[in-house]
Parts: sequence; C-alpha cells; structure tokens
Amino acid sequence: MKLKNDLLLRAANGEVTERPPVWLMRQAGRILPQYRALRGSLSGFKELVETPHLAAEVTIQPVDELDVDAAIIFSDILVIPEAMGLTYEMVEKKGPWFPNTIQTVSDIDRLISGEKAAKDLEYVFEALRITKKELAGRVPLIGFSGTPWTLLAYMVEGSGSKTFSKAKKFLYTQPEAAHRLLDMLSDTIIAYLNMKVEAGADLIQLFDSWGGILSPTQYQEFSLKYIRKICEGIQGAPVTVFAKNAWFALPDLKDFPCNVVGLDWNTPPQYARNILGEKRVVQGNADPCFLYSNTKDIENATRQLIHDFAGHHIVNLGHGVYPDTPLDGVKAFVNTVKSFS
Ligand code: CP3
Repeated sequence: MKLKNDLLLRAANGEVTERPPVWLMRQAGRILPQYRALRGSLSGFKELVETPHLAAEVTIQPVDELDVDAAIIFSDILVIPEAMGLTYEMVEKKGPWFPNTIQTVSDIDRLISGEKAAKDLEYVFEALRITKKELAGRVPLIGFSGTPWTLLAYMVEGSGSKTFSKAKKFLYTQPEAAHRLLDMLSDTIIAYLNMKVEAGADLIQLFDSWGGILSPTQYQEFSLKYIRKICEGIQGAPVTVFAKNAWFALPDLKDFPCNVVGLDWNTPPQYARNILGEKRVVQGNADPCFLYSNTKDIENATRQLIHDFAGHHIVNLGHGVYPDTPLDGVKAFVNTVKSFS
C-alpha cells in the first residue's frame, strides 16, 4: 500500500523534504495514558510484547495521540537472546533480568542462531503485519534490533548495569568466545530484520545502546565490525545506526553502509556536521529532559535544533523519552516540528 505520509522515508533516503520528519524513541510506552491503562490490565510486559494484536494497538497509540511521522513496532531488543535460547524476564521497576547468562564457550554452544532462531519470533512478524494493515498507510513503520554487542552485554551481564563490567571483562578475557557469540547474534539479527522487512517494516533502526562504554579500539573490534555486516545484510529498507555515546566512532559512520546516523544528546550538532558532512542524514538529538521545560522553551529549543542541523535531519530525542515526561511537552515538541517551514 502506498504511504500517505512518506516524509520519514524520503528524508532517510537523502531527499530534501518540505520540513523535517519527527518521531520519538520509546514513543510507544508509559508516556501515554492509553498504554498505561492497557499495560495495567495485563500480567506483564512480555504479555504485551508477545500478543500481536495488543503490540499493534500500542504501536499505533502514539500515531493517534501525538500525530508523529512514524510508528515503531512495540517489542524489545531482548526477544533475540530469548529466541536463541536465553530467556529474559522484565522485573517491574527494575528492568530486564536473565535467569541464565553466558559465561563460557559451552554456554554459547547451546544457543541456536540464524534463520532457525529468527523464525521463532513469529509473534513479532504477526504484530508487524497487523500494524501495517491497521495503519493503512498513514505513516511508515519502523522495525528495530539491538546490535550484537548491546545484546551480548545483556546476555553476559544478566541485567542492566551502570558499567557492564562483567560483559567488558568477557571481551578482555575470552575474546574468541565473544567473537563467536557476536557472529551468531549477527546472523540471527540479519535473518530477523529481513523477515521484519518482509512483514512490513519500512525502515530499520539498530540500537547500540551500550556502544559508548567500550574503548574506541574495542568498539571497532567488537561492535562496529558486526554492525557493518548487518547493514550490508539488510535488503529493502533504509537503516539507521544509533550508537549511544559512541561519539568517537563518528568518523567511521561518515561513509558507513547505513542511511541515517542517530545521535545522542551529548553530540553537538555542529561537531556532528563537521565530521559527517552537510548531506549525511542524521537523527536526533534533543536531551530527553528538555521536555520537562515550559512550552515556550520547548518550542524555541526545537526550532534551534532544526536550525543547527540545517537539513537532512530527522527530529528525535537523543535517547528514549522518559516515562514521566508530560504529554504536553511531547506535543509541543512534535507540533513545533510539524509547523516548521
Ligand atoms: O521505541 C518504542 O516506542 C518501541 C518500543 C521499544 C521498547 N524497547 C519497549 C519497552 C524499543 C525500541 C525498545 C528497545 C530497547 N529495549 C532498548 C534499546 C533502546 C534504549 O533505550 O537504549 C533497550 C536497551 C531495551 C532493554 C529494556 N527494555 C530495558 C533496559 C527496559 C527497562 C527500562 C524501562 O524503561 O523500564 C525495557 C522495558 C521496556 N521496553 C519498556 C518499554 C515500553 C517499559 C516496560 C513497561 O511497560 O513496564
């Protein structure tokens, strides 16, 4: 079906657009009262993720409520480790937790990977098909995955962490095992994302949420190499690489085989432009906390952001929106972009 609003797709493909497109990372979630109501009636987060018609419903909620230029499929990056054999739990108010973790090569040998693992995620593909149908071409639909390094970090650490020192220790002490796991994750992610495109995803975003905790040399060896392989393996949709806090990798992303470079809020627009050039499509990068400001300040800062990137820009935050962000702030942000000319 032809898209009625294809602004994001055109911008991602490098076209000059009448205004920048806008959406928010984590827009489908707790900022919306309709999400909180539905979520509260269920057994937990995973029920929502694994029930395709409910995942489709919360994917569309921000399109209805905020009038953003894209929908992002409601899911989680941790469905990949689970499909490979490492199940996760989402502990209320704490976040992800893995009852079993990866510590040795034999733990890795027990995992399944590639197409065989990806096929297990039929509930995600079904959610995409339902969403696509219900959106009826209103806006493009974004599919996503964590990067191999970010997923390895959770699989070895077993939960969120400030330092991910167990996961980093694994890279220093068992580099061969790490590469083996990263290869298996890459194969699974490529199969998974191509299936997502087949099921209706119009664009793909890769989240390297923990990219910035690696040293620059480690980043090259354990993350960027695999992201490149994935970008080269995805067919039929533009790809955004969002490497959080990995500002040191910007020179590598200049000519990287992806369409859009996602930027976190610590990266000054001019700094990014100097390295990436004027025509590289960038996405970001307002501080999520600026949405706690008053309406006037939000409007001014949003206009300034658009001005600073000077085109080839997809407006977004520099990371996911925080759950307690006032909806009025989010709306002021979106509406300022939409009225930009
Ligand atoms: O962006 C969207 O609107 C789509 C949905 C989405 C979720 N997770 C839903 C979610 C996306 C794109 C993700 C990706 C994700 N998940 C990342 C990468 C992006 C990033 O934030 O860096 C990561 C690291 C995860 C792992 C994860 N899932 C964590 C650390 C948590 C707990 C933190 C929290 O906010 O509570 C989750 C849970 C999660 N994933 C929620 C949502 C809406 C909150 C769960 C709830 O409803 O209770």
